[in-house]
Amino acid sequence: MLEFMIERMTRKKLANIKFSKIEPELPKDKDEIGLYIHIPFCKMPCPFCAYIRYPWNPKLERPYIEAVKKEINLYRNVLGDVKINSIYVGGGTPTIMPEGVADILTHVENAFNVSSDIGVESNPDDLNEKTLALLLDAGVNKLSMGVQSFSDEILNGIGRRSHDAKQTLDAIELVMNNGGFDTFSIDLMFSLPTQSLASLKRDLDIAIEKSVPQVATYPLLLFPYCKMYRDVKEHKIELPNKKVEKKMYDVIVNSFVDAGYEPCSVWSFAKKGVDKYGSVERDEYIGVGAGAMSNVGEYFYANTASVEEYIQAVSKGSPPIAIGAKSSLDGIAARWLSMSLYEMGFDKREFKRRFGMDVNEKFNSFLRWLKLFGVIKVEGDHVQVTRKGMRPIHLMTKTFLLTFIAKACTACMENPKPLNLRWS
Ligand SMILES: C[S@@+](CC[C@H](N)C(=O)[O-])C[C@H]1O[C@@H](n2cnc3c(N)ncnc32)[C@H](O)[C@@H]1O
Ligand code: SF4
Repeated sequence: MLEFMIERMTRKKLANIKFSKIEPELPKDKDEIGLYIHIPFCKMPCPFCAYIRYPWNPKLERPYIEAVKKEINLYRNVLGDVKINSIYVGGGTPTIMPEGVADILTHVENAFNVSSDIGVESNPDDLNEKTLALLLDAGVNKLSMGVQSFSDEILNGIGRRSHDAKQTLDAIELVMNNGGFDTFSIDLMFSLPTQSLASLKRDLDIAIEKSVPQVATYPLLLFPYCKMYRDVKEHKIELPNKKVEKKMYDVIVNSFVDAGYEPCSVWSFAKKGVDKYGSVERDEYIGVGAGAMSNVGEYFYANTASVEEYIQAVSKGSPPIAIGAKSSLDGIAARWLSMSLYEMGFDKREFKRRFGMDVNEKFNSFLRWLKLFGVIKVEGDHVQVTRKGMRPIHLMTKTFLLTFIAKACTACMENPKPLNLRWS
């Protein structure tokens, strides 16, 4: 009953968005904003991957970097001397071109007033002393690494061919011995083909035994445009069923809590006292690069996913935006609320400050209902997701991503032609 209601409400209220060829209106008086930089290349793209990424072609590196720098200049002209309050370089695989990432970050520093942490995603097979030094020199202080599993059998089963478990363990040791990053997080995945509860538990135990400061645990999300989605539909691959996935989630939470980690979201856990790793998804941000998404004011919009169209558009001085959606204040507030629950709670005064309305009035029945089922507890102005509430909120986040992100990625892949805009 609870799960049915959560799924329905998420689809109807949170992910209810329509993308079209809409031109976003960018405010000229912004004080601060986040910056997301997308590097859409991977050495050996994984068949399950939900992100916009292509097989790596070294010939594209220079034209792509120059195009990203031009797009940054386009934003600089519109947004003026805005403060950049968070920088996140994601992919794809940014560490496939560490010099290129450093070059782009230097350009950002010169173009904007930057006061921010810098987070970068990495693959284990790219990490060595030289790459770490390049990233640290460029000001990167938060690093995440895609591990997925410490089992070679699972890595084979999900078609992840770029590294094996031994390389991952070496890369973790390298980063942790280096000690230069303020935060270090690894990504593990669950609900994977051939994965059992025991093999998941082994992955969690290794991460804990290695004392990794933060671990994000991603349930496998399959989108219609992923190869693995088709393989599952054609019964070539079998996944753990819903019951097993639920048990897996409980094993994850119990393992980390028993080991003294704290949830920093419903799917990420950090050792007590460490700085938390996070991306820029929550607040307003601009995204640069092919397939990058932006969230500014009432608009959520995406660049063309085609690298060729992207490079061509910015070379002509035109923003590479291909698709967008305008939300009502209620829609934006609902998404903020769901992100806050994903991050384990929020302060009601913060909601009022942002949206000028009382969260109890706006979402009265939703919050009452969450309280009734023990999903949240309320102490004064603070709303906290309970241990029991983590699974329903996890389901809400999963449903949201499967609906909202699938719509956004599909729309941006189906509309490769940018809008041919001019920003003066
Ligand atoms: C954008 S990827 C970048 C990390 C890096 N390229 C790597 O794979 O090591 C970030 C993380 O998203 C997760 N991910 C990718 N595809 C996913 C999917 N279909 N469902 C759930 N998580 C996924 C993986 O855990 C991955 O490490
Ligand atoms: S999971 Fe990482 S390495 Fe694999 S295709 Fe996606 S971005 Fe590339």
